[in-house]
Amino acid sequence: MNAATNIFKLITRTPEETRELGRHVGTLSQPGDVYLLSGNLGAGKTCFTQGVARGLGIEEYVMSPSFVILREHQGRLPLYHIDLYRLESVDEAAELGLDDYLYGKGVCVVEWAERARNVLPSDNLMVHIDYADDDERCFRIEANGPRYRDIISKLKKAYGLQKTEKCS
Ligand SMILES: Nc1ncnc2c1ncn2[C@@H]1O[C@H](COP(=O)(O)OP(=O)(O)O)[C@@H](O)[C@H]1O
Ligand SMILES: [Mg+2]
Repeated sequence: MNAATNIFKLITRTPEETRELGRHVGTLSQPGDVYLLSGNLGAGKTCFTQGVARGLGIEEYVMSPSFVILREHQGRLPLYHIDLYRLESVDEAAELGLDDYLYGKGVCVVEWAERARNVLPSDNLMVHIDYADDDERCFRIEANGPRYRDIISKLKKAYGLQKTEKCS
């Protein structure tokens, strides 16, 4: 299969556009979904997660759970918002006992997933965010596993052909 069919790229130009992208994903969410977010501080991981929450019908404010590792919100499905920013080591990630969430019936969104890739599910939707210019962010969303290809193809349908040459 052409690798490009597993990848969706989009440039967002405002935080609201990022939330809208997250909202699309949230409306497509199914029990057990895992979305791994990577990108520098301020890239828009929490902003994207707020959109996923919106797509799940969650109305309360979703903030970065940096100090608590995990916050749970109840929507159409439970949202488990995990932030590994403060993780000291991969071993620590393994000791946290996140598996009940990661392999549960809710939707897991993991910020700073690159800090613990090998203790996170290998089937996932990988969302990488890069800075472009000023408020522009390059999203590169990749399906790892058959379940997530469906999300990619639906995002492609929703957004149509996009100009993303400036994204690596
Ligand atoms: N296109 C954009 N998408 C997302 N956030 C943006 C965008 N342009 C500017 N911003 C700003 O970047 C910051 C993103 O913050 P946040 O989502 O908390 O990042 P992270 O969780 O990756 O550290 C916010 O201050 C937001 O207003
Ligand atoms: Mg954050």
